[in-house]
Amino acid sequence: MKTKAEPVFTGNELKGRKFLKLTDLNIQELGYLLELAGELKQKHKSGLHEEPLKAKTLGMLFEKPSTRTRVSFETGIFQLGGSGIFLNSDNLQLGRGESMADTAKVLSGYVDGMMIRTFSHEVLEEFAQNATVPVINGLTDMYHPCQVLADLQTIREIKNGLSGVKLAYIGDGNNMAHSLMIGAAMTGMDINIAAPDDYMPNTSIVQEALTIAEQTGGHVEVTSDPQAAAEQADVIYTDVWASMGQEDEQGNRKQAFSDFQVNVRLCSLAKNDAFFMHCLPAHRGEEVTADVIDGKQSVVFQQAENRLHAQKALMMALMS
Ligand code: CP
Ligand code: NVA
Repeated sequence: MKTKAEPVFTGNELKGRKFLKLTDLNIQELGYLLELAGELKQKHKSGLHEEPLKAKTLGMLFEKPSTRTRVSFETGIFQLGGSGIFLNSDNLQLGRGESMADTAKVLSGYVDGMMIRTFSHEVLEEFAQNATVPVINGLTDMYHPCQVLADLQTIREIKNGLSGVKLAYIGDGNNMAHSLMIGAAMTGMDINIAAPDDYMPNTSIVQEALTIAEQTGGHVEVTSDPQAAAEQADVIYTDVWASMGQEDEQGNRKQAFSDFQVNVRLCSLAKNDAFFMHCLPAHRGEEVTADVIDGKQSVVFQQAENRLHAQKALMMALMS
């Protein structure tokens, strides 16, 4: 017998909030966003248009290049009835020394939300502390939470759920590894990160993921053995060996990661119906071979498309 009514969750709880990392959401809020992303995708595919963000603007500040993030946010806000303003830090007064804090205060007077892609996560936090509008992380050196929202949406579409799905991430313990670990832990997935000893994920983020997994029944493991991680996996995921800002390390990293390539041999250790994921952009012949990323079990373009739907859900929740 039910003795107490469950609190009704409306999504209004997310209004005005920031999204700098996945743990800025609780587990229920994350589930709500994934559900909403699915609904918005359905509506879009059936040609239904609603404009919950009519006349609202999203500022999009980039200190690094982007294809997917820029275009999916700009298209997304447009489809919701608003408009996006692309801001390249070199062409702002930021490039001439104006502070992040002043920039955040000024832009908050104009726009209804900000998306930022920058290097250090602390810079994003500084911006968010000084902004009075919702701030969204479009990638920092530490996290890429919008990508993982789309990735979770993609896995859910294919597996009809997330709990217990086994994901093997093979490669650099970078921003993608961090956000995937947290996202997997929050949704009760089983994640195994395989990285070379010198390129392991941040230990405090691993610890945080382990703590979350204890509550959700998820499983988090870190290893330097890519074969062990790939064994019986449902999903094999990888990312570039040298992220944006690490161009000077490209040569060294190529050597360090040579045993961490996702190729047909490694994929043969996973389940027969396992699929391949990559946040893109990809370097064929480095972290993944062309036959894997261009093969039948690759879902990289479904992932990329879902950036649009997942971020529309996010903007609707934070900005309407
Ligand atoms: N995956 C991703 O964030 O791609 P972009 O760098 O093109 O935005
Ligand atoms: N780890 C990569 C992700 C790109 C979307 C980078 O930071 O460059």
